[in-house]
Amino acid sequence: MNFQFDLAFAQSLDHADKLSSYRERFLFPQHGGDKVLYFTGNSLGLQPKGVKEAFVAECDDWASYGVEGHFLARKPWYSYHERFAAGAAKLVGAKESEVVMMNQLTVNLNLLLVTFYRPEGKRRKILFEAKPFPSDQYAFASQARLHGLNPDDVLVELLPREGELTLRKEDILMAISELGEELALVCFGGVNYFTGQLFPMKEITQAAHNVGAICGFDLAHAAGNVPLELHEWDVDFACWCTYKYLNSGPGSVGGVFVNERHATNSNLFRLAGWWGHNKETRFQMGPDFDPIPTAESWSMSNAPVFNMIAHEVSLGIFSEVGMNALREKSLLLTAYLDFVLLEVMQITGQKLMRITPEDPSQRGCQLSVIVDGYDRKLVSTLYEQGVVVDWREPNVIRLAPVPLYNTFEDVYRLGKVLEKIFTR
Ligand SMILES: Cc1ncc(COP(=O)(O)O)c(C=O)c1O
Repeated sequence: MNFQFDLAFAQSLDHADKLSSYRERFLFPQHGGDKVLYFTGNSLGLQPKGVKEAFVAECDDWASYGVEGHFLARKPWYSYHERFAAGAAKLVGAKESEVVMMNQLTVNLNLLLVTFYRPEGKRRKILFEAKPFPSDQYAFASQARLHGLNPDDVLVELLPREGELTLRKEDILMAISELGEELALVCFGGVNYFTGQLFPMKEITQAAHNVGAICGFDLAHAAGNVPLELHEWDVDFACWCTYKYLNSGPGSVGGVFVNERHATNSNLFRLAGWWGHNKETRFQMGPDFDPIPTAESWSMSNAPVFNMIAHEVSLGIFSEVGMNALREKSLLLTAYLDFVLLEVMQITGQKLMRITPEDPSQRGCQLSVIVDGYDRKLVSTLYEQGVVVDWREPNVIRLAPVPLYNTFEDVYRLGKVLEKIFTR
């Protein structure tokens, strides 16, 4: 498409957008009486309408039923987490038995690593992408120490080629095959939080399996951003948060995928708790753990209902729209942002270097951009003008036009604000 950096053009794209009505389903922070230009859905998604009412309903049921709410609440708390199986499975391309909502992201990553990082003999190494989210790296290092290993000996961070900003697929696959029998685990972000690079998860999984390694993904920046087919790709495990693209509020419940191959294997070690125990016999309160033959057996505690309420509202929207329709809009919206940034660069002479790959199949909606000559004050300057973006040191802004609620006009207006700032 021949894009134009022009209000009428942006509005014409919004007019043609089949998903445009979803914007009305979200609550926007205000600036000078208008909605802000919100580009940080990759950090904390906006609140879907209906969340407050859903909280009030749950409070009412608690008030009305006390402990009996476990069974008598309109959405009984005893089985509350089961309400998410269908929606979460659809979202990540899994069977319902392969997903469970529980805890939060880093906790879940550590729990999964307890099962899936089992160094033995010379097979001890963990391969991950350059600059993973630090929490993941801390988890890898602590798991190595848990096994009495020195993280420096087993953690392998795969760097891009000299002079390049992101990883090439062939280099990832080569690194896996070269590590071969030394490789215990490959654990990448589905989309890297810093660069916005979307990794070829199917090929990475295949390559890991070819050398006898396990493959898992942190999908914090992928779930709700790009279509996923975890079961078909034969991924071993994955985890994600729900407060970014999944709009479920700060610190909301995390999601877990365990391939049915592993979930049905009762001999596979998992940390145990009563919520992972066979539901038929759970209340016999016996001493021996009998794992449910699904991903649920990784959940240890009863469902944190109040931490899941918003996710139910949000997941309903995702089930309605579907990831393929979202991705279709997302590709166009991010391509437009890419174009607008180029226009701003040409008009103002300000150097803006996109870190995120140009190839749409290697990115989600986020673009990460190096802004030469500016520091984090740029974010405050933008905020004063009603634009919300985020900053990563030393000089990177991350911009995420989210197809559920951002418009082409938002992108155009962002471009105009940047043009004004850089022209000063
Ligand atoms: C890729 C990634 N992993 C892990 C985390 C940590 O998440 P949590 O605080 O929910 O454990 C984040 C948070 O933004 C993240 O982006």
